Amino acid sequence: MSQDKTSYVILGGTSGIGAAVAKQLENSENIIHVASRQTGLDISDEKSVHAYFESIGAFDHLIITAGSAAPAGKVVDVKIPDAKAAFDIKFWGSINAAKHASRYIKPNGTITLTTGMLSRKVIANTYTKTAINAALEATTKVLAKELSPIRVNAVSPGLTMTTAYQGMDEQNRESMYENARNTLPAGRVGTAEDVAQAYVMAITNPYMTGSIIDVDGGALIN
Ligand SMILES: NC(=O)c1ccc[n+]([C@@H]2O[C@H](COP(=O)([O-])OP(=O)(O)OC[C@H]3O[C@@H](n4cnc5c(N)ncnc54)[C@H](OP(=O)(O)O)[C@@H]3O)[C@@H](O)[C@H]2O)c1
Repeated sequence: MSQDKTSYVILGGTSGIGAAVAKQLENSENIIHVASRQTGLDISDEKSVHAYFESIGAFDHLIITAGSAAPAGKVVDVKIPDAKAAFDIKFWGSINAAKHASRYIKPNGTITLTTGMLSRKVIANTYTKTAINAALEATTKVLAKELSPIRVNAVSPGLTMTTAYQGMDEQNRESMYENARNTLPAGRVGTAEDVAQAYVMAITNPYMTGSIIDVDGGALIN
């Protein structure tokens, strides 16, 4: 790896918010590695994650945006194996990445995780996302202490128009976006580019660590 360039690893960087972060970081001074299942890395597979970071070697900044699917439904209705599978990808996947990347991240480097506004917004039928994101927010703060001087933060997006919703019926998806535009204090639905700006801030601001950055159009104050 070139000594004078800054190197980034974006797990989940092949689409949505991660791809927008990659785009905002793109310049001739930066080396950007993006990985996801379509490049052969399943973040929930600890051995693969370990081997991946071994192959990358020393680098500066880790961004984790992998995993977006989680079962909806009441606690009494969601099948436990489905909830566990969602935890395996987003929660345990993020832990796998932080654990195995930490020995390769340079002392002035950073880790930026991704949570989600449901960590602190109480909405029925969303407990899996609430639980995963709340667990990750708590762990972000622990990691910031344990890995210092590496800085560790998390970005918590609200509804963001990405490929995560491409499986939805188009009419339902558009009416979900329209409802958000009409009800969120920001009067708009977030784009991946809006949210990506927060990762760049977490990476570049030397005074930020242990922070959860809300980019949610005001959903938490609604
Ligand atoms: N969009 C929203 O409204 C919203 C709101 C709150 C929080 N978030 C959070 O923001 C993050 C990014 O979401 P997004 O909207 O950008 O979703 P997205 O467009 O679906 O992107 C998710 C990325 O994760 C990768 N991925 C999924 N499972 C993986 C696995 N097992 N191993 C490695 N990579 C995996 C996907 O690539 P492959 O399919 O190739 O693996 C893709 O690159 C997620 O953590 C999500 O929970 C999103």
